[in-house]
Amino acid sequence: MLILAIESSCDDTAAAVLEPENRVRSSVISSQDEIHARFGGIVPELASRRHIEMIRPVVDEALAQAGVTLDDIDLVAATQGPGLVGSLLVGFTFAKALALVRGLPCVGVDHMAGHLLSCLLEDPQPAFPYTALIVSGGNTSLFAVDDPLTFTRLGRTRDDAAGEAFDKVAKLLGLGYPGGPVISRLAAAGDPTAIAFPRARLGADSLDFSFSGLKTAVAAHVDSQRRSGNSPAVADICASFQEAVVEVLVDKTLAATAHTGHQRVVIGGGVAANPRLRMVLTERCAAQGLALFMPAPAFCTDNAAMIGLAGYFRFLGGHLVEADTDAYSRSPLN
Ligand code: KG4
Repeated sequence: MLILAIESSCDDTAAAVLEPENRVRSSVISSQDEIHARFGGIVPELASRRHIEMIRPVVDEALAQAGVTLDDIDLVAATQGPGLVGSLLVGFTFAKALALVRGLPCVGVDHMAGHLLSCLLEDPQPAFPYTALIVSGGNTSLFAVDDPLTFTRLGRTRDDAAGEAFDKVAKLLGLGYPGGPVISRLAAAGDPTAIAFPRARLGADSLDFSFSGLKTAVAAHVDSQRRSGNSPAVADICASFQEAVVEVLVDKTLAATAHTGHQRVVIGGGVAANPRLRMVLTERCAAQGLALFMPAPAFCTDNAAMIGLAGYFRFLGGHLVEADTDAYSRSPLN
């Protein structure tokens, strides 16, 4: 079986072709970073317009790179939600129309489910069940994953997502968008203990997160440096900020794993590409005898391959969409 998958929930237009048994034949991503960079964040109207321009060429490129045509495709999968509705509608409507015209089955996929299963795109794959941290620009949540269709949320952010905090801190330091990659690069030259930024624990047993106070603390620090005539030590700020985020993400992930009793830990989402997070989590999981599964960075950030894989499991579960099925902006999983 060959699956054509489409992802357009936010600011990347992506398409992939994959086979069951998780072999990715192609994964194409058209980034909109250049369009949104000067605004320091995503402008929804510009995002959906760009998706309309790019959806056809990106799908064509994914088919070409896989060496197949639409005649070879057996199933169409697309992100149904959550995300920016104007963006989602482009990919989801394109997928439904294509399936209708070609007489193919079509599945709608929850973007979170894609991230929760993206570690299955490569070897070694985790067996079920596992505890997963999904950490991106829109979400920071912990889940128990019992099988490819059963996800139980254990905790989530009460305000900003961790990726959003990276993006906002980058904006206030004038580093551009997206913030995560540039902050992690600059942090490598900084001292993570230079500034004692706050870690929000939200109570001893809480598996929830909060990053808005940390972002405000960085803003206050930068402001006080500027008012006293000093230029902020950007590398130290990046390293100290990143350390505060990583410490909380790792501590809560291990607390969630202790809570579930699982032996396997999985991460996903754009912030899961962060080298410091990957390093600290690797060390801490090894110390506790837990098996850690981290997708390659290209499968951490938004991509259509993970949507195709999650879509395959929905197909096996018989969850097909109709031509009038709608997209949704909020995830029932979250
Ligand atoms: O999963 P994703 O591509 O899109 C969604 O938000 O769904 O994640 C994008 C987020 C952005 O906030 C970006 O700043 C962050 O992931 N990110 C990183 C890194 N690479 C991307 N954050 C920290 N370190 C990174 N290396």
